[in-house]
Amino acid sequence: MAFCSMICCGKGVDRKEKGKQQPTWRIFSLKELHSATNNFNYDNKLGEGGFGSVYWGQLWDGSQIAVKRLKVWSNKAEVQFSVEVEILARVRHKNLLSLRGYCAEGQERLIVYDYMPNLSLLSHLHGHHSSECHLDWSRRMNIAIGSAEGIAYLHHHSTPHIIHRDIKASNVLLDSDFQPQVSDFGFAKFIPDGATHVTTRVKGTLGYLAPEYAMLGKASESCDVYSFGILLLELASGKKPLEKLSPTVKRPIAEWALPLASEGKFSELADPRLNGKYVEEELKRVVLVALVCADAQPEKRPTILEVVKLLKGESKEKLSELENSDLRAQTQLRKRRIPNPVKETEHGSP
Ligand SMILES: Nc1ncnc2c1ncn2[C@@H]1O[C@H](COP(=O)(O)OP(=O)(O)OP(=O)(O)O)[C@@H](O)[C@H]1O
Ligand SMILES: [Mg+2]
Repeated sequence: MAFCSMICCGKGVDRKEKGKQQPTWRIFSLKELHSATNNFNYDNKLGEGGFGSVYWGQLWDGSQIAVKRLKVWSNKAEVQFSVEVEILARVRHKNLLSLRGYCAEGQERLIVYDYMPNLSLLSHLHGHHSSECHLDWSRRMNIAIGSAEGIAYLHHHSTPHIIHRDIKASNVLLDSDFQPQVSDFGFAKFIPDGATHVTTRVKGTLGYLAPEYAMLGKASESCDVYSFGILLLELASGKKPLEKLSPTVKRPIAEWALPLASEGKFSELADPRLNGKYVEEELKRVVLVALVCADAQPEKRPTILEVVKLLKGESKEKLSELENSDLRAQTQLRKRRIPNPVKETEHGSP
């Protein structure tokens, strides 16, 4: 069985070398997942996304898991499920959340992951943990570089290459050391066409969508780069991708950041919760890279491999180019486009 050969293929070896426990990939029974999650108890629920709900659970051996219970599954998609999950399970990288297994019984389709004790980046920036301020600057830099490396693996090294399509703060999970693990890659294909959910009209999330993807539904690696740029701005500033200015008007984060960056006011872009404790050069780097990623013109965006290098400070020349010419060009272009803030529409397309 293809599934078995995958388990035995030794793909997880490099994880082991890095001291990470290689989870065993297997099929779970529904009964086992029921007992692990206390019958999918409401108290165990970690949250709900476009594909279903996620529950915390504990297996008989004491290990903690997160179980994603997919919404109603169409018969047509049934065969596809195990095939797709197997493809995703083969993808292993230190910054990608690996699958522990799945369950497909009757109408139920569940995916089992390791539980990430520090939850998502979203919970630290805007949710439960936002007031505790666990994210100092070095952790933020580490999250920026690590998640870019995870995405670079998806775009350039995994077979087949994977476009994430839903890069956002809730899909960057944090392990016990605050190391980032990007989750939900390749998930867009699990949504049956025509399913009704805010994030499914175009498979992605409001505020992070590249304009050409939102308008034409054309997904590509550069759409992920755009979303990653928004995520970087969010990480540096602590602001949401869309900031509510009034009940109906929301301002995209890039529209707020661009003028400040082009006037060199980088300190105003830093999250106030950092209390001024950040490395100036790195903050500037993150913001400049974020803005070129979030360029409205896809051809202007870097590849995610270039993003990794830029964030690590390995492309100093390119960075000053970004500051001196690209930023100015973007500012001019945006100035000609009016108005800046977007009015929210029913489905929230920009
Ligand atoms: N392995 C995990 N460990 C800890 N928390 C998790 C894990 N997987 C998901 N979560 C959290 O559970 C919640 C629900 O996740 P889910 O992926 O269903 O929704 P989402 O990320 O908000 O949206 P989307 O469906 O677009 O990915 C999120 O807050 C997510 O960060
Ligand atoms: Mg998610």
